[in-house]
Amino acid sequence: MVVTKICCIGAGYVGGPTCSVIASKCPDVYVTVVDLSQPRIDCWNSKDFNLPIYEPGLKEVVQQCRGRNLFFSTNIDEAINAADIIFISVNTPTKTYGLGKGRAPDLKYIEAAARRIADVATGNKIVVEKSTVPVKAAESIQRILFANMKNGVRFQVLSNPEFLAEGTAINDLMNPDRVLIGGEQSTSGLQAVEKLSWVYEHWIPKENIIKTNTWSSELSKLTANAFLAQRISSINAMSAVCEATGADVGEVAHAIGTDSRLGPKFLQASLGFGGSCFQKDVLNLVYLCEALNLPEVAAYWQQVIDMNDYQRRRFATKVISCLFNTITDKTITILGFAFKKNTGDTRESSSIYMCKYLMDEGAKLHIYDPQVEHKQIIADLSHRDISEQSERGDSKMATPPVETEKEKVNKLVKIFEDPYEALKGAHAFVVCTEWDEFKDLDYLRIYNSMLKPAFAFDGRRILNYDALTNIGFHVETVGHKTLNNCLPITP
Ligand code: UDX
Ligand code: ADP
Repeated sequence: MVVTKICCIGAGYVGGPTCSVIASKCPDVYVTVVDLSQPRIDCWNSKDFNLPIYEPGLKEVVQQCRGRNLFFSTNIDEAINAADIIFISVNTPTKTYGLGKGRAPDLKYIEAAARRIADVATGNKIVVEKSTVPVKAAESIQRILFANMKNGVRFQVLSNPEFLAEGTAINDLMNPDRVLIGGEQSTSGLQAVEKLSWVYEHWIPKENIIKTNTWSSELSKLTANAFLAQRISSINAMSAVCEATGADVGEVAHAIGTDSRLGPKFLQASLGFGGSCFQKDVLNLVYLCEALNLPEVAAYWQQVIDMNDYQRRRFATKVISCLFNTITDKTITILGFAFKKNTGDTRESSSIYMCKYLMDEGAKLHIYDPQVEHKQIIADLSHRDISEQSERGDSKMATPPVETEKEKVNKLVKIFEDPYEALKGAHAFVVCTEWDEFKDLDYLRIYNSMLKPAFAFDGRRILNYDALTNIGFHVETVGHKTLNNCLPITP
């Protein structure tokens, strides 16, 4: 039972780190990661290891394996043909048009990858869906493969969802709580499951490799993300109660987290969860439940998203009301743009929503993030999907004409390389990402360089509330009632 070659279609946040770790743990297996994007592959192959994604520990793994048994290429057909196992790790964004718009996942990239495999494969293949997909996607992939197969080639489709979290991907991959493999419950299906399991058994104990039918595996991934997102929405809901009552959400989280039935993880109140998975997967689940005629279940999970939206709006409204209900032309510094620390990824970042709400009120934004590229920030803020203003601007009836998002961003947004420069002359700052370096800034120096009263809004609960208050800041923290509370909040 030997796998000699693996091909991974998609060299992104999932495919890149996953295959790098497989290559490092399975020196006897050749792993080729392919992508349509030449610039992305060039980055993976760059001499100075200037990789296209920032992930702690990834560079070291790539340095160890690249050129040995790990390769990055745009020669998709050759890699497909050579491989015994093909991972599909392409993006599955939420649909932005047509049926299921805003909720259903867009499977066009998965379908294109499946068609390509069917088109070029000349030998039997195990095709593994790694990207998060709706339940029964494996069945659709199987149908595409069977309908288009040539030369009597046989395919087995497996579900092997990825549970890595960005920022801790390498550790999550090296020491996963479990690996999940779902497959068809036939002799050939079970053989395929065993082959893939053999790869993981190079470093993961057999008892931590869970084998299920395909649908259970697909649904488990959606369920895991829905439960995690639900936990954040639950603690965020309690943060609103804390701010209204004088309880502290950190103390509440600690008190409940010591109950072994609840556990301490994922109880960090914040200005809302972001990332490429949680919102997409919960919406995907909602859409699935509606399609299955389970409206009560759909409504139950929809609340997780609604609470996240509410939390983002609520925190932005707090900023505005504290700044005397007007922020037009005021300078607000945004500390952190990534959706969490230790990543340069901004997908669905709550910072984007915070910036948008503040820009809609006419605030000038100074933005600092240690990892996110400037052009990414500009692209995210200029994107019309997140701008109600631009939606209005699209209307032919809109009078007077509304400036385009790009113009607005050019006018209102400045991006900085240095946090102290970003904070000079600001009325307020908002911590949107929990980067460790924000804990250690010289807040006395910052206070002296800001306009007074100087406001500090901690959307991540990482700052020392008492120390900042003693310096003279008016501090507002998610889930903590401030003594001289701002005006009543009406989101
Ligand atoms: C998530 C899942 O954790 C992972 O298993 C899955 O494979 C992909 O989706 P990821 O989105 O990379 O991973 O990061 P995660 O650590 O889960 O954080 C998601 C968001 O929730 C971030 O914005 C984070 O800041 C926020 N969060 C997390 C909180 O606000 N509070 C918490 O207690 C935990
Ligand atoms: P994820 O977070 O799921 O890994 P990314 O967007 O980071 O998503 O990466 C997905 C990658 O898949 C992108 O680099 C994209 O160019 C690539 N991709 C999409 N469709 C195909 C395809 N048909 N063939 C090869 N690569 C593809």
